[in-house]
Amino acid sequence: MTIEHTELIKIRKPLTDDQLLFAANVLRNGGLVAFPTETVYGLGANAYDEAAVAAIFEAKGRPSDNPLIVHVPSPDKIEALTTGSLDQAKMLMSAYSPGPLTVVLRRSKLVPDIVTAGLDTVAIRIPAHDTALRLLKLADVPVAAPSANRSGRPSPTRAAHVYEDLAGLIPCIIDDGACSYGLESTVLDLTGKKPVILRPGAVTADQIEAVIGIRPILAAGLTDDEQTPRAPGMKYRHYAPNANVLIAYGDKSEDRARQINKLVAECLHEANQTQISGNIRIGLFSSRKTREMIRIDNIPSVNFAASTDVKGLNHSDKLEIIFFDYASEPRADAAASELFFALREFDEIGVDMIIAEALPEDGMGLAYMNRLTKAAGGGEAPKHRAGGKT
Ligand code: TXA
Ligand code: MG
Repeated sequence: MTIEHTELIKIRKPLTDDQLLFAANVLRNGGLVAFPTETVYGLGANAYDEAAVAAIFEAKGRPSDNPLIVHVPSPDKIEALTTGSLDQAKMLMSAYSPGPLTVVLRRSKLVPDIVTAGLDTVAIRIPAHDTALRLLKLADVPVAAPSANRSGRPSPTRAAHVYEDLAGLIPCIIDDGACSYGLESTVLDLTGKKPVILRPGAVTADQIEAVIGIRPILAAGLTDDEQTPRAPGMKYRHYAPNANVLIAYGDKSEDRARQINKLVAECLHEANQTQISGNIRIGLFSSRKTREMIRIDNIPSVNFAASTDVKGLNHSDKLEIIFFDYASEPRADAAASELFFALREFDEIGVDMIIAEALPEDGMGLAYMNRLTKAAGGGEAPKHRAGGKT
């Protein structure tokens, strides 16, 4: 389905209900609205309206067996959507909601099959974002919302990304600037014997354990048998940019810089072997500290020191390295908030290859490495499902 006009609502501060009434009415009338949250932009529809939810899958090109998160403005709205015990959910929500935590609970009959892909569970989140909360309150219906990207594109962290992917396919986008976390919420399944983190995010296993006294299992650590019914979204390759993504591992900045060096040299060697003509373009995503340690001695014409901008371009006859410094120091929260943005930028520029700096897998680093590994093709996508994306 195409739409004649996509309304772009630019939020002015202080935020008034007037600014959001149009969007709330679109939702109430069965239309789709892309809205900001603290994690990424979401593509919302009234969760009780099956036709509206079906339109989400169509606009995104999303496989219908991948369930959606239902967004509500306050904990009192959860009861109607669920059955079974809410004890752990309530404890976690009073600690971390509104916030980047999604809990999977047993669903009530009110939640249509299309939202949960036929599962008997439902994922619920209260976003910590003033505009999102105001919209949810005004719409006064639970809002099913996946990330507002076309399936297989990185999740949008700015309204412009949503516009790129979905203009002409949805009636309304609310523009309220950049998302602060830049990566999707932690998805925590509370329906099994033990809590399971299906997707790592800003709320960590330590934080969850501190509140409920039980350490959640990470989904990747489950056996296939345990995992199958629980983590439908995990089997798809996500966040894939056009260019191949390589990860530069290493404990310290020096080690990772050396690894970047090696990967660039290999890339050039391969280009020489296959006699590719013209420049090779490499997109480099790293901290400035790491980038400044790169010494490409065997590629003398590359000058990495030319620019101290956040983004810069260095030339040689053969090689262009387009660098994107996410911060001056290697820090997972900063890397996480810029990763999807950088992947989209590199796609737009049209790089041949992307090299990204690995970071320690603790705290937000676990979520960052999870998304980066998936972008590098390390998702769990079984071969026969290739092409399935969220
Ligand atoms: O931060 C976020 O969570 C963003 C913002 C918009 O809230 N939303 C988001 O939605 O990332 P989406 O659809 O892109 O990712 C939702 C993930 C998918 O991996 C899906 O499989 C999983 O949550 N999920 C949803 N419902 C589930 C359920 N009932 N059981 C297990 N996993 C579920
Ligand atoms: Mg998504």
